[in-house]
Amino acid sequence: MGQPWSGPVKQGRLITFEGGEGAGKSTQTRRLVDWLAARGIDAVATREPGGAPGAERIRALLIEGAPDQWDARAEALLHFAARRAHLVETVWPALERGTWVVSDRFADSTMAYQGYGMGLDREMIVRLYDLTVGDFAPDLTLILDLPVAEGLARAAARGGADRYERMGSDFHERLRAGYLDIARRTPERCLVIDATGIADAVAQSVHQAVAERLVEDGRG
Ligand code: TMP
Repeated sequence: MGQPWSGPVKQGRLITFEGGEGAGKSTQTRRLVDWLAARGIDAVATREPGGAPGAERIRALLIEGAPDQWDARAEALLHFAARRAHLVETVWPALERGTWVVSDRFADSTMAYQGYGMGLDREMIVRLYDLTVGDFAPDLTLILDLPVAEGLARAAARGGADRYERMGSDFHERLRAGYLDIARRTPERCLVIDATGIADAVAQSVHQAVAERLVEDGRG
């Protein structure tokens, strides 16, 4: 096979941003890569679904079209197929080179959106994770949290609402609560960051968290 099955021999670190719509994940992803570079840490920004050529094609299948066009299990499988391509082609090779990876979304999005949001059996999502990702997880996950109405308003201001943005506020409330539950269950990996402030303030909390958890503990 020649492919890593349970993840790479890791030298870099994987940091993931999670959260609902309009939380500012892509801005914070870019800013964190710049902040790491300023500290002499080579880092790349990437995203899910996507982050590799095949995965970007799967992304188009997922974010366009009617909100109910996929059954939740088919949708989760597509996200994990894209994730596997992203890991094999982009994330794992970078970590092996010693490059840090900052990803705008990763597997917690499947648990929050397809699990808590759409009601797919969460144990099934854990099994899909084991099959496609194996014994590998982000070093740090930053969950950008803000009230649903505020996030959806910010996302709407960007224009061109995608399939998930059109799913209704009950769905978005369930996934926000889901993210907070994920953070409660895995505090060693996840940190909730208040994303209601301006981007500079959020970035400051992000950088402080990364400095405390990864850069200053001797592993960076
Ligand atoms: P984006 O809005 O961050 O660009 O991501 C595209 C959408 O895909 C977003 O609304 C969340 C959704 N999504 C899932 O439903 N499950 C997943 O596993 C991932 C990675 C994203």
